[in-house]
Amino acid sequence: MQIILLGAPGAGKGTQAKRLSAKYNLLHVSTGDIFRENIKNSTDIGIIAKSFIDKGQLVPNDVTVEIVKERLEQEDCKNQGYLLDGFPRNIEQAIELDKFSKIDLVLNIGVDINKLINRITGRRVCPKCGASYHVTTLNGETLCKACKTELILRDDDNEETVTKRIEVYNKQTAPLIDYYKKQGKIATVDGNLGIDETFNQIVKILG
Ligand code: AP5
Repeated sequence: MQIILLGAPGAGKGTQAKRLSAKYNLLHVSTGDIFRENIKNSTDIGIIAKSFIDKGQLVPNDVTVEIVKERLEQEDCKNQGYLLDGFPRNIEQAIELDKFSKIDLVLNIGVDINKLINRITGRRVCPKCGASYHVTTLNGETLCKACKTELILRDDDNEETVTKRIEVYNKQTAPLIDYYKKQGKIATVDGNLGIDETFNQIVKILG
């Protein structure tokens, strides 16, 4: 099964993707994670990506489509279902994706805009294992519960950049809801609920 997780920044795509990939044995393909790995390793793609990510803008389509295409052509993706987290992010990317992947379902995680900034600026991530937390549930703890590494705030998780990312989502990514509605592939999930409740809704949809 090939699934897209659609939603605004902070909607909970990454959180749900980790749980779903564990439950359904799906590969989690996150363009944000691929870019961050490239930034960490100072690759050419990483240098280009950072200049856009830090401003809350989308990385150009040619770069983004190519990294996703390359990833999906790898052997594991040919033999196993996957979850696309953060891709596509505009109509052009969706049109390109249709040329090299057959998507079965698009899960649209809807969250009220006023909740997003708090979720993102309060997020703390583990730079080693990728686990993600929110300050409200950490109770002052600064180490990753899984691997005991010091948690960090992502460079693009400040209020100014988040506001820009939400603006970009509204303008460029939200039109994908209609695009996939027309293909009869979309299912909407209420992401305003807690993490478990959101997950349970998705499990019901997947059956
Ligand atoms: P990316 O890393 O994909 O960021 P994003 O889409 O902005 O999404 P986030 O990771 O911020 O949020 P999320 O929905 O995964 O939320 P999470 O589960 O972590 O992309 C970063 C950048 O890379 C982009 O801005 C762009 O520049 C570039 N990029 C990436 N893909 C691209 C593409 N296709 N084209 C061009 N450029 C691209 O949850 C957030 C917080 O909320 C956490 O603290 C979590 O614990 C908490 N939380 C989650 N769910 C709930 C819940 N139900 N209730 C309460 N709290 C919750």
